[in-house]
Amino acid sequence: MHIHAMSDHSNPHTLSGAALEQRFAELDQFLLEHQALWRPRPFVHYPTLPWETDHPELAHWLRQQSLEHADSAHNQPHQLKGAPDPFPQLAATAARLSQLGAHPQTATTSIPARLSNGIPGRKWEQINAFSRSLHFAHPPTHWLDWCSGKGHLGRLLARDGAQLTCLEHDDELVRSGQQLSGKLGIPAQHIQQDVLSADASLQLKTAHTPVALHACGELHTRLLQLASAANCTQLAIAPCCYNRISTQHYQPLSQQAQQSALILDIDDLGLPLSETVTAGARVKRHRDQSMAWRLGFDLLQRELRGENSYLSTPSLPAAYLDKSFDVFCKDLAKLKELPEPNTQNWPALEQLGWQRLAVVRNLELLRNIFRRPLELWLLLDRALYLEASGYQVKLGTFCAYEQSPRNLLLLAERN
Ligand SMILES: C[S@@+](CC[C@H](N)C(=O)[O-])C[C@H]1O[C@@H](n2cnc3c(N)ncnc32)[C@H](O)[C@@H]1O
Repeated sequence: MHIHAMSDHSNPHTLSGAALEQRFAELDQFLLEHQALWRPRPFVHYPTLPWETDHPELAHWLRQQSLEHADSAHNQPHQLKGAPDPFPQLAATAARLSQLGAHPQTATTSIPARLSNGIPGRKWEQINAFSRSLHFAHPPTHWLDWCSGKGHLGRLLARDGAQLTCLEHDDELVRSGQQLSGKLGIPAQHIQQDVLSADASLQLKTAHTPVALHACGELHTRLLQLASAANCTQLAIAPCCYNRISTQHYQPLSQQAQQSALILDIDDLGLPLSETVTAGARVKRHRDQSMAWRLGFDLLQRELRGENSYLSTPSLPAAYLDKSFDVFCKDLAKLKELPEPNTQNWPALEQLGWQRLAVVRNLELLRNIFRRPLELWLLLDRALYLEASGYQVKLGTFCAYEQSPRNLLLLAERN
């Protein structure tokens, strides 16, 4: 097996051993110290955010910038030029605390084209990168693809003859996964299973090597608990959607995180997911319009209710945006059982919505600095939990950020 050592001296390393706990403590302190800056969501605060009185110069500067400015800095807020204090210092600390190396990858070997047939390009790149990042001391004999979808990842891993079990709760995906495996001559078992139900523990065997690529919130934390209870020797997870949990607040897994004063709610857990790398121009245009219109409606609802507070609105079918702005507002007011809006200067209100969008997106840049630190804090909580359960853990990236912003991979092995 050829392994490219991807971390040389100029590159950061993957995290393991004592470094896990040390980084967790640093991130914990950083996040706690600056909660006032990253917790409040600019979208829901009007006319100003609580931190603006403490940092008037920064607030003023951000408020002057255009929507294009916010968009160009959105995914790399730490590279923003010219922002007043304390932005540059915070950005530098966040970048330092977010440094993380890539897992070494096995060299690309030729993979039969039929294995990638029908898999969208980016998905295939992610699966391929994930599989090349796994190198366990004991060669896996039985892969368990957790929340497998159609089981593309599992099939790639099991192509050389290891056994494969895929767990997935969507019937249709189980069926088409089984069909695909049959067609490709891979003797996989695709099992319909809700991994959150009590009987899911019966599916885990000590001989399994569980893998989970982009299993949301509780779906992957459940795997960590069940796999360590089942004594699995090794596992690999790349989490996503930290906010898909059934409790109001985050339930930390590790002792270190349980002892932290950081209490995260569902909105906080959405912060690491707020980048927009995957959007095409049309999707972006739609999202901008939806946000600008909601921000315009927000001004209206404050007036209609006679109360200066945010009112959450449901996600709406795309058809809502095909209406005119006034119809959009009237329909939304009806949906929220508000008084019918009286005569308004609709074009002016819509314009205010767009102006607010630019302001909100720029103010969000400060919050975005904390996106990766919070994500790493969450991954380290998982890593420390596994360490306490007797695993040796390595935390690193498995693919480029452009291939997927959810590019963190935890590898865990027991002796
Ligand atoms: C983001 S997808 C990832 C799929 C696959 N691992 C991949 O990378 O292509 C998450 C998968 O979890 C499945 N899922 C959601 N809730 C589940 C549950 N309670 N039990 C089992 N699978 C579930 C979904 O149907 C979906 O296929």
